[in-house]
Amino acid sequence: MGAFTDKTIVLGVTGGIAAYKAVELLRLLTKAGARVHVVMTKAATEFVTPLTFQTLAGTPVMTDLFSLPLEHEIGHISLADRADLMIVAPATANIIGKVAHGIADDLLSTTIMATKAPVLFAPAMNVNMYENPLYQKNEQTLREVGYQIIQPAFGALACGWEGNGKLPSPETIFAHAERLLTPHDLAGRRILVTAGPTREELDPVRYLSNHSSGTMGFALAKQAFLRGAVVDLVSGPVTLTAPDGVMRYPVVSAQEMHEQVMQLLPKVDVIIKAAAVADYRPVMRQSNKIKKGDAAPSIPLERNPDILTEASTSSARPKVVVGFAAETHNLEAYAKKKLHEKRLDLLVANDVTQEGAGFGCQTNIATIFDATGHAQALPCMTKEALANRILDRVLEQLLQKR
Ligand code: PMT
Repeated sequence: MGAFTDKTIVLGVTGGIAAYKAVELLRLLTKAGARVHVVMTKAATEFVTPLTFQTLAGTPVMTDLFSLPLEHEIGHISLADRADLMIVAPATANIIGKVAHGIADDLLSTTIMATKAPVLFAPAMNVNMYENPLYQKNEQTLREVGYQIIQPAFGALACGWEGNGKLPSPETIFAHAERLLTPHDLAGRRILVTAGPTREELDPVRYLSNHSSGTMGFALAKQAFLRGAVVDLVSGPVTLTAPDGVMRYPVVSAQEMHEQVMQLLPKVDVIIKAAAVADYRPVMRQSNKIKKGDAAPSIPLERNPDILTEASTSSARPKVVVGFAAETHNLEAYAKKKLHEKRLDLLVANDVTQEGAGFGCQTNIATIFDATGHAQALPCMTKEALANRILDRVLEQLLQKR
């Protein structure tokens, strides 16, 4: 069950050129299991036809406060009451100004005023309008009374200007909505997650690395953010996009990861080390490409810092330290050894030779060990679902250590 399952969302669309992007947002919401009622202002219907939204939502689009048949079926107050969340995307300066001044003169502004559900505004407008102090004051008023506002993106605007005022992507708006619908049991916590592989360069064209795709670490970062935490994601080189709202610190080598983690450590409550860190690096990186010769070259290696052990024994040790163990055999024995030697609170062990587990795939099969020796064996599940199971255990530890 996702955050949107069986949830009722009222999607307000106001009159801006970005109104067409609300169609994609609607599609994301319905795909995630939400029931969506679309309310359009008169101006919005000049940009996209109500029929487009109606066809995708499967519910009648409402545009008029005084439409008798629809008002009878689902009046604006009932709509406001039914909503688990309202999203206004795009939100013009006009709707933000109206709400800031308590004006309710059409169906959308009336529904916003009448609802007790959280309301998320995604403003989009010309950059000069956006920067106008009157607009900024109105936006501030909305924030102060508890409305949620997504910062518009920077970029080329339809009006020909470049600047702040672009509607964020439908995926970004969706992510903010998902966070608003998810219980914030990790609010007030700051969590550092490491993800992906490290690369240890041999010469300008070659490196030592491993198969980590970053999926497990990125899933942890995303779920921790949705559950209200502030999240720092230190990631080796991967092709994934950082989850919205998460602060990403890109690194390449184990030494870079070590430096970044140590810098963030004093600020966090929890560290979860899902990254697959190279234990060794070449003693010397050749500045020129190593050429083929008669004899096979031997490459001397030296130890990288053990970031996890340093974190757990540091004077800035976070309240909860979680390690991973990627094993190919003797899972339990090696996992327990790592848990003990690295002084961890929790250790997530995965046998990377198992089908559906480990590197690169969307699922994982893990056992979570705690410091008492208790083992929680979990079945195969998506990495997102596993991330939540790990975060449940992290929360339990945080509450115990209060
Ligand atoms: O990224 P994916 O494709 O989704 O794959 C997920 C995963 C298989 C990478 C992940 O589930 C996983 O197992 N991550 C840990 C991999 C690993 O390096 O395991 P390890 O047993 O070698 O290391 C044990 C722990 O010490 C890990 O938390 C590791 O981050 C940490 N470590 C290791 C070496 C080192 N020099 N510094 C460390 O901090």
